[in-house]
Amino acid sequence: MSGNQPGISRRAVLATSSVTLSAAALALKAGAPFSGTARTVPFHGSHQAGITTPTQDHLVFATFDVVGSRDDLQGLLSTWGTVAPILAEGRPIPAVWDNTYPPSDTGEATGLAPSGLTLTFGYGPSLFDARFGLSRRQPGVLQPVPILPGDALDPATSNGDLCIQACADDPMVAFHAVRNLTLLGQGTVVLRALQIGTGRTSTTSSSQPTERNLLGFKDGTNNLTGSDTALLKRWVWVDPGDDQPWMGGGTYLVARRLRLDLEAWSSLPLTDQEQVIGRFRASGAPLTGTTEHDAPDLAAQGPHGDPIIPANSHIRIAAPTTNNGIHLLRRGYNFIDGLDPTTGAYDAGLFFICFQRDPMAQFATLAGDLARTDALMRYVTATTSAVFACPPGLEKGQTLGADLFA
Ligand code: HEM
Repeated sequence: MSGNQPGISRRAVLATSSVTLSAAALALKAGAPFSGTARTVPFHGSHQAGITTPTQDHLVFATFDVVGSRDDLQGLLSTWGTVAPILAEGRPIPAVWDNTYPPSDTGEATGLAPSGLTLTFGYGPSLFDARFGLSRRQPGVLQPVPILPGDALDPATSNGDLCIQACADDPMVAFHAVRNLTLLGQGTVVLRALQIGTGRTSTTSSSQPTERNLLGFKDGTNNLTGSDTALLKRWVWVDPGDDQPWMGGGTYLVARRLRLDLEAWSSLPLTDQEQVIGRFRASGAPLTGTTEHDAPDLAAQGPHGDPIIPANSHIRIAAPTTNNGIHLLRRGYNFIDGLDPTTGAYDAGLFFICFQRDPMAQFATLAGDLARTDALMRYVTATTSAVFACPPGLEKGQTLGADLFA
């Protein structure tokens, strides 16, 4: 174990200190929130926050490899589940030692409002291999997404044992949360990959305007929202009878870093761009409509009998009506990671995140269709891919990971 003091890990100190990590002790130590002006999203609830929560503007998505023991892992999950509600309230990690040790909170969010921070935890398929005795707990549908045509995946930054999706209206608040949760895991986890996302590309609430992605198009018009209760029950929330009872009320997260060829896209005439998507760029309306939320008419034909929404357009191929009703809850972000050092092209695109009840039957089926026939995919290269089981939410007093290890 590495630590802040020789031979002493940060997590070990927290675990063995006279100040234990019970929720009550932390609440006492945490003091008052910094500022009560911005919104807070409760961490506790029957489902994890950060799924149907109206999408915040910024993302920090971290994946981890577990390097500690089963006990270390169990202890860390418990710690994360105790600290997460404190961070969501905009409070610092409480001090557990004096100033001769490194501060327990790294400090960069001091004075910032809670900013709607949500922390969503997930377990990757590899967590259920032989290392931690969890193989009998693996849900059957929790399998790596098959490699799709056109993928150029980096194995070093794909997949992972654990993930934390941190979303907030302030990027520093999201980064601070991930950084401090990572420090609490010293000796138990190491960061595998970190993706910063900025500018949401999905709408999960009818009260939010639809944002634009880096193609310049409104993205998220026809997405599931938090008020689509029946569709969420059918397509997003796992039923306890589906497979592993511990996943009841949970969902599966698929994350794909989809690099966009922005240079090629920018050289397409506007009408060609609109044919690729199947919507008008300015209004977001389908090519058969006039306003953004008009329902696309996939049967409508032009004067020569051609479909007005082209056969290979993105919204036709992705639409539930052409996919046995398959819905996903999309919750992606733009990413802009500078320039590709070899080509000088933008290293930018869409960090696609979606939630579903069955990642194989939903995401993999849809993405396979898109990869084979969607005109948009000429401009898209997947560079990372990962899937995680997000357990149900915790009620106050419950412990993250308890059902998994029971
Ligand atoms: C970089 C890649 C992608 C871009 C830029 C992109 C962009 C868009 C845009 C602009 C829309 C229309 C507005 C809307 O309804 O949200 C849309 C719709 C949609 N996209 Fe994507 N998308 C990408 C990849 C994907 C992938 C990989 C999937 C799933 C496997 C997907 C699933 C959907 C679905 C389900 C819709 C709604 C279709 C409908 O019912 O009208 N997209 N996307």
